[in-house]
Amino acid sequence: MVKIPMLDLKRQIIPIRQELDAAIKRVIDNTNFILGDEVRDFESEVQKYCNAQYAVGVSNGTDAIKLALLALGIKPADKVVCPAFTYYATAGAIAAMGAIPVFADIDLPTYNISAESIEEAVKKHPRGKIKAVIPVHLYGQCADMDGIMDAARKHKLKVIEDAAQAFGAEYKGKKAGTIGDCGSVSFFPGKNLGAFGDAGMVITNDKTTAEKLKILRNQGNKDKYYHLVLGHNNRMDTIQAAVLMVKLKYLESWNEMRRRNAAYFNEQLKGAGIKTPFVPGYTTHIYHQYVLRLDGPSDGLVAHLRAKGIDARVFYPVPLHLQECFKHLNYKKGDFPESEKASVQTLAIPVYPDLTREELDFIINSIKEFLK
Ligand SMILES: Cc1ncc(COP(=O)(O)O)c(C=O)c1O
Repeated sequence: MVKIPMLDLKRQIIPIRQELDAAIKRVIDNTNFILGDEVRDFESEVQKYCNAQYAVGVSNGTDAIKLALLALGIKPADKVVCPAFTYYATAGAIAAMGAIPVFADIDLPTYNISAESIEEAVKKHPRGKIKAVIPVHLYGQCADMDGIMDAARKHKLKVIEDAAQAFGAEYKGKKAGTIGDCGSVSFFPGKNLGAFGDAGMVITNDKTTAEKLKILRNQGNKDKYYHLVLGHNNRMDTIQAAVLMVKLKYLESWNEMRRRNAAYFNEQLKGAGIKTPFVPGYTTHIYHQYVLRLDGPSDGLVAHLRAKGIDARVFYPVPLHLQECFKHLNYKKGDFPESEKASVQTLAIPVYPDLTREELDFIINSIKEFLK
């Protein structure tokens, strides 16, 4: 029986239930269910929150990446660099629009790609074939964007920050997703800011890109029934925007509670023989996941915690270059050693804001009991 789940959304929703009900009721009363007023208002709230020029509400975080690639002019058969160690959707979105993922290894301590790994990926491919790079801000902390932007500009690559897991994190004072040409965000229910279904956002500071995104998300429509380009049905639902607008007010305090829980784990696990998250000075961490690492395989510890009812998990057990669906790209075991290590040696433990001190201590003591 699971005693401590990875996330307990009921605990988050109960204190704000009346606000959420009222927001949803307003949408039902207005019946403007797709791209309604709340979508426009939420876009403007996200612009303010991120200090970005434009925010375009879309159907989910995967489509946000796909639309960003299209808006930035990436074409089928173009190559796009992304980490070998990330959630499937990063590379899935590249493949979905007919482009080809080119994997790059991560820097093990941060789990993110670096300028060096982009350089290596570029070296292995014929000049000019690679058109973009998607750094992922994995688990909720930013990749080293200064280095990544320099490498990208040097090789004339467009940059899409996959900020699906990092909405609210900051790189040198700038919000994740606002540094590259576009940033993509997921509001999947389990994210730190989660909708009541699928939803996502593309952030950009470029007016032309924002205009293209708005057309692309809505069937290529500029004016109704006049289709400028081959667009998609990737619009945001108004109910999701209404829910997200209520929740956005609480995001900073929820992220702070995650940071407090992470700090407690760090302190209590010091010297226990396990690596706690490494957070470089250039980024803040919103702890979408709190990820520990052992020197060897983590499966024994995961099984031990799960047997105690703690929902420990490995994000992600198979790096993308070894996934069946990318077999045709001809990568092999050993190609990205750091990604392969991360997939074997890491585990995530629950870190959500509403965990009690008793629950945190139970998790800590269970880890220590295994490591003894
Ligand atoms: C790193 C990363 N990229 C992209 C996505 C895709 O987001 P969505 O599930 O909203 O399509 C996710 C979501 O799980 C993710 O974690």
